[in-house]
Amino acid sequence: KKRVVSGVQPTGAIHLGNYLGAIKNWVWLQDTYETLFFIVDLHAITLSYDAQQLSTTTRNTAAIYIACGIDPSKASIFVQSHVHAHVELMWLLSSITPLGWLNRMIQFKEKSRKAGDENVGAALLTYPVLMASDILLYQCDLVPVGEDQKQHLELTRELAERVNYLFGGKKWKKMGGRGGRIFKMPEALIPPAGARVMSLTDGLSKMSKSAPSDQSRINLLDTRDMIANKIKRCKTDSFSGLEFDNPERPECNNLLSVYQLVTGRSKEEVALECQNMTWGTFKTKLTDALIDHLQPIQARYEDIISDSAYLDNVLAEGATKAASIADATLHNVYQAMGFLRP
Ligand code: TYM
Repeated sequence: KKRVVSGVQPTGAIHLGNYLGAIKNWVWLQDTYETLFFIVDLHAITLSYDAQQLSTTTRNTAAIYIACGIDPSKASIFVQSHVHAHVELMWLLSSITPLGWLNRMIQFKEKSRKAGDENVGAALLTYPVLMASDILLYQCDLVPVGEDQKQHLELTRELAERVNYLFGGKKWKKMGGRGGRIFKMPEALIPPAGARVMSLTDGLSKMSKSAPSDQSRINLLDTRDMIANKIKRCKTDSFSGLEFDNPERPECNNLLSVYQLVTGRSKEEVALECQNMTWGTFKTKLTDALIDHLQPIQARYEDIISDSAYLDNVLAEGATKAASIADATLHNVYQAMGFLRP
């Protein structure tokens, strides 16, 4: 069976971008592939964060995965820091990661610019190396993510190639390895729609947890009233009718795409249904569709979060399963890199 891994940071509220770009797609993958989904708590400390909240938001994020339809009997769900191999492999990989590659990362440039030099820790720069280790430890085939993670996936592939080249092949075989490659080459799986959900207040910037205004995003746990209010006030334009793919109408394209995804209709159907609609009519429909889609997720979330024994158990089982795969890879890497093993 092919293997799939992915994760979300437990910072702030999980929003529609995280859901439509990533989590929603994990749900269908779990039926066909062997899947592992983690909550990347170690990534969440790369910018200033609230230590008193981290454990709570980590649990909440796990509950959201399950509420969105990730089934613990099919997929392994675990917390990144519970599987020690992630940080260990990261150190090994960082020894062969050229600094220039990290300096080129768009997310690093954006986040460090916003945070200001004084507040940029070394971990913000080495963040993609930890992400590469999250992926490479599991010898996986596919990594379902939104568009913004594409560059990190490319870096992951470059690191895999570099390790395979430097330490794999015949050299590794002589040292007792299996020969050939140490890491499997993973591929990003970016959905055709939803890979870049945009802000409600500006159709040219992506919906994000760190945007100062909560009006810019729909969070999965927003109440009906909040959703209605945010859609009512979201940015539109003064063209008549509604259409996809008009570069002069980024907000229109974004809202139609969201509508398409939460109603489960095709783009053609939505284009036809909405071509002569006014913004007023469309906003009511979109609000109803969002509430209909999110309401069952919210109800399941309440059940899951109130049963802490269940959640603990899911996370413990997930970590055990993940560690069994990750430890084997880590052992191979140590061996290939020439370490004396205990
Ligand atoms: P994070 O927590 O920023 O986002 C989680 C997932 O949501 C996607 N996403 C979006 N998709 C569409 N539109 C948006 N506006 C939007 N905003 C976020 C992201 O692309 C991502 O798929 N570094 C990662 C977490 C990570 C990871 C990994 C992912 C760490 N290790 C290994 C995959 C495999 C991150 O910060 O995602």
